[in-house]
Amino acid sequence: MRILRILSIIVLIAMLAVIAGCERKVVNEANNDNQGLSGCFGCHGEEAFGGAILQAQGEWQNSIHASGNNIDYTNRDKSDCMMCHDQQGFLDMLNTGTLDTLRYSVVSGIHCFTCHAPHENGNLQLRTEAPYALRNGVVFDHGAANICVRCHHTREPLDVTLGTADSVTLTSRMGPHHGPQGDMLQGTLGYQFSGYTYPTASQHGGATVDGCLDCHMGNPQQHDGYRVGGHSFNMTYFDDEAGTEYTLSGVCKNCHPAADSLNYNLKGVDYNNNGAVEGIQTELQGLRDTLQIWLKAAGALTENGTTHVFSIKSTKVPRNVAGAVYNWVLFNEDRSWGVHNPQYLYHLLKSSVDYMKAHQ
Ligand code: HEC
Ligand code: HEC
Ligand code: HEC
Ligand code: HEC
Ligand code: HEC
Ligand code: HEC
Repeated sequence: MRILRILSIIVLIAMLAVIAGCERKVVNEANNDNQGLSGCFGCHGEEAFGGAILQAQGEWQNSIHASGNNIDYTNRDKSDCMMCHDQQGFLDMLNTGTLDTLRYSVVSGIHCFTCHAPHENGNLQLRTEAPYALRNGVVFDHGAANICVRCHHTREPLDVTLGTADSVTLTSRMGPHHGPQGDMLQGTLGYQFSGYTYPTASQHGGATVDGCLDCHMGNPQQHDGYRVGGHSFNMTYFDDEAGTEYTLSGVCKNCHPAADSLNYNLKGVDYNNNGAVEGIQTELQGLRDTLQIWLKAAGALTENGTTHVFSIKSTKVPRNVAGAVYNWVLFNEDRSWGVHNPQYLYHLLKSSVDYMKAHQ
């Protein structure tokens, strides 16, 4: 009995020490490899904040921010990669506008403290909601989505990528980099042919309050194991083991009551002109396929005979052809297959096809 009592006192003291330890050691949010800290629950209970942290954590674990191959590997010297692929780089850019030119000592991915600073602010407000100027100076201002667009935007202005000369030497990696979603939602930074009229208003940029979040963070399906919506930011999730696909198409119904999938074609227009009205994503992918055939004929793209995957040829082409190639890459890298801004993406593809047809 005595032993037991002593033991329980020791346990109690140990527990108090842990709690007190936590009280003293508020984690350093700016330079923190918090993947190893059993997240937030090392100090906060699972019920803290009404279970909101537990829920966010569960969703985050299914996000590409948590599990992607590219969230923390690019700790390269003197490269801009770190501003979007590393928490510390992101915070340095946010706070000082520059990156450490040396490697960061602690590499960490996109985690709770990338977007929130609860221990500095005492709450879960975002680190910033300030409007953000895209690479051509156009200002993106869609509430809480402004934080997303500090990373999800084109890396350089078009004139840097394509130059200003009449001809351009293409390279296999020419394009806007992988995350031009901010530019597309805004409806800017595509290659625009002179004499062609592009839409000036963004359909989903104008309709949404918090841009990206109105779709990617909505969660009408509640928690299918935290797979879509919320902090997973996933619109779709394929469960390999169960062979089940989850999609967040329920968010579209908030504005389009008849929408039954992400491929919903609101206006029923046959955008790729193949005689059939298909889903919006299918329509625009069809138009993209038409464009890549014209670009191949012009010698700007090559097609792998086995996989039928198209890639850019390292060759010199007129600037407008390079612009059409740029729009082809842009559509592919945006990865919403038109949904981010249907009319803008449609007109970028259509004007590119029109140009290629007229200049065979
Ligand atoms: C090492 C322990 C520790 C870890 C890990 C930790 N916290 Fe905290 N947290 C604290 C302490 C201690 C406070 C109280 C700070 C204060 O009052 O100054 C606090 C305060 C907060 C607050 C402010 C609200 C309040 O009641 O004071 C929020 C929100 C918060 N933490 C969220 C988080 C989240 C989210 C994580 C995980 C990403 C996390 N914390 C990880 C120790 C920790
Ligand atoms: C610190 C920069 C940064 C911020 C801020 C950021 N992201 Fe990301 N995001 C990335 C990077 C980098 C990847 C790709 C990671 C990878 O592939 O390993 C990514 C991936 C994603 C993906 C998954 C893409 C896929 O491959 O399926 C979605 C969706 C996404 N982000 C949405 C958002 C949203 C919405 C926000 C705002 C709430 C946001 N991101 C904020 C950098 C960021
Ligand atoms: C302006 C922010 C930004 C910069 C700078 C940046 N990236 Fe990214 N990168 C992103 C975002 C956002 C994504 C995710 C986009 C998506 O999944 O649609 C991404 C995705 C990637 C991917 C995944 C591609 C794929 O198909 O899954 C790789 C690889 C990558 N980046 C490498 C790099 C490297 C290397 C550098 C530096 C030379 C770099 N990035 C600089 C924002 C950036
Ligand atoms: C890429 C940025 C990003 C990351 C990473 C992130 N959050 Fe959030 N979080 C957001 C955004 C955006 C909101 C919505 C804020 C708004 O609408 O004002 C939010 C909201 C929240 C809320 C409030 C929800 C509510 O009920 O009010 C909690 C709690 C939260 N996040 C916790 C976390 C935790 C815990 C993590 C890490 C597991 C995390 N977040 C990681 C961007 C992020
Ligand atoms: C109108 C709703 C809507 C808005 C607003 C929106 N997205 Fe999307 N997003 C989608 C849909 C739909 C897809 C395609 C999903 C699919 O078919 O796989 C997508 C795809 C993506 C992808 C590719 C990976 C994935 O999840 O499929 C990324 C990354 C992404 N969006 C980021 C963003 C960012 C960043 C913003 C804000 C600048 C944004 N989105 C705004 C609906 C939206
Ligand atoms: C916040 C409200 C809102 C949400 C959420 C929303 N949309 Fe929209 N959507 C609009 C508005 C407004 C328009 C512009 C209608 C017009 O051009 O007359 C539009 C236009 C469209 C169009 C028409 C494109 C064309 O042919 O011009 C399609 C397709 C579309 N949305 C699909 C979707 C899908 C798929 C989702 C879910 C991923 C979605 N929308 C989510 C408000 C929304």
